[in-house]
Amino acid sequence: MKTATMNRRKFLAMMSAAGLAGLAPGISFSREQMPVRQIPGTSEYLPVIGLGSTKPVGQIAERGTGPIAGVLRALVQNGGAVVDTWPSDPSNDEAFGQVISEPDLRDALFIASKIDRTGKREGLAQFSDIQRLYQRETIDLMQVFNLTDIKTQWATLQELKASGKARYIGVTVSSASLYGQLADFLAREKPDFAQVNYSITEREAEQRMLPMLQDKGVAVVINRPFMNGDYFRKLGDRPLPDWAADFGCESWAQFSLKYILPNPAITCVLTETTKPKHMAENARAAFGRMPDEAQRARMRALISTV
Ligand SMILES: NC(=O)c1ccc[n+]([C@@H]2O[C@H](COP(=O)([O-])OP(=O)(O)OC[C@H]3O[C@@H](n4cnc5c(N)ncnc54)[C@H](OP(=O)(O)O)[C@@H]3O)[C@@H](O)[C@H]2O)c1
Repeated sequence: MKTATMNRRKFLAMMSAAGLAGLAPGISFSREQMPVRQIPGTSEYLPVIGLGSTKPVGQIAERGTGPIAGVLRALVQNGGAVVDTWPSDPSNDEAFGQVISEPDLRDALFIASKIDRTGKREGLAQFSDIQRLYQRETIDLMQVFNLTDIKTQWATLQELKASGKARYIGVTVSSASLYGQLADFLAREKPDFAQVNYSITEREAEQRMLPMLQDKGVAVVINRPFMNGDYFRKLGDRPLPDWAADFGCESWAQFSLKYILPNPAITCVLTETTKPKHMAENARAAFGRMPDEAQRARMRALISTV
C-alpha cells in the first residue's frame, strides 16, 4: 500500500472506514506512511511533521516558485501534509496559491493560515484575501496570530467555523512571554488547535503549557523547532554524538525533532525550510525509533553545554 502518495482526504477516509480511529498516537501504518496523530475529539489524523512556509514563500519574487514547489513535494512524498502559512506579500502569496493548487498538491495538503490584524473588518478582509490567494473556499485551520486582538478575531474565527469556511480554529504563540495570556484564553475558550514554540533549546512549554493543552483536548502544533535557525548557528560544526544513532538520528535537525516528537501532547511539528533536501531530512525524523526518557535526559545534558 503506497499511502505516501495517496491523497490526504482519501487516506483519512480510509482510516476511518477501516475502524482505525482511536489508535495510539504516532502509530505507523507502513514504511512509506509518516506516523500520524489524532486531532483530539475527531476521527481525523495528521502526519507529525509539517512545513512552516514563511521563508520559501518570501523568496518567490527573487527565486521563483521552484524552491517552494520542491519543498512541498518533498513534504508530501515523505508522507507529510500540514503547511502553516499566512499572506504577507500579495504577489508572492498569489504565486504560492497557484503552487498549492496544482493537481498533485491540492488535496494532499492541510492548509493552516492566520489572522494577524486588529479590527473585525480587517480580520474578515484578511480571510477573504486568504481564500482568494490560496484558491480555497474552505481553509483547514484558521488561527489568531500571537493572540492579536484576540476577543475580536476569536469571534470572527468562530463565525468562519460555523459557516464552514474554516474546518478548525485555533491560536498561535511563539514565545513563553505569551503563555500567561494563552492560559487565560484557555480558561475561557476551547480552541481546536494551539500553536506553541517548543524545542530541545526552548523547553518552557514542557512544564505547564503542553500538559494543559493535552488535558483540554486541544491539538498542538509546534513552531520554532530550530529557533528559526539559531539552533544550528549555536551548534556550529560540532559533530553529532555517536549515541544519536541508537534512536535512528542522522543529523542535528533530527536530534531536535526526535526530542520533540515523543511528547504525547503534540500533534504536529512545523519545520521551516527553503530546501527540499532539508524538508526530506526533517520529515524522516518522524520515522523509526524515538529516544526514551533516559536518552532525552542525555540529549538535554548535551545541549546545555552548547
Ligand atoms: N506566532 C506564530 O504564529 C509563529 C511564530 C514563529 C513561527 N511560526 C511557524 O513555525 C514555523 C517554523 O518555525 P521557525 O520559523 O522559527 O523556523 P525553524 O523551523 O525553527 O527554523 C528554520 C531554520 O532552520 C533551517 N533548517 C530547517 N531544516 C534544516 C535542516 N534539516 N538542516 C539545516 N537547517 C535547517 C532553515 O534554513 P534552510 O532554509 O537553509 O533549511 C531555517 O533557517 C514557521 O515557518 C511558522 O509557520 C509561527
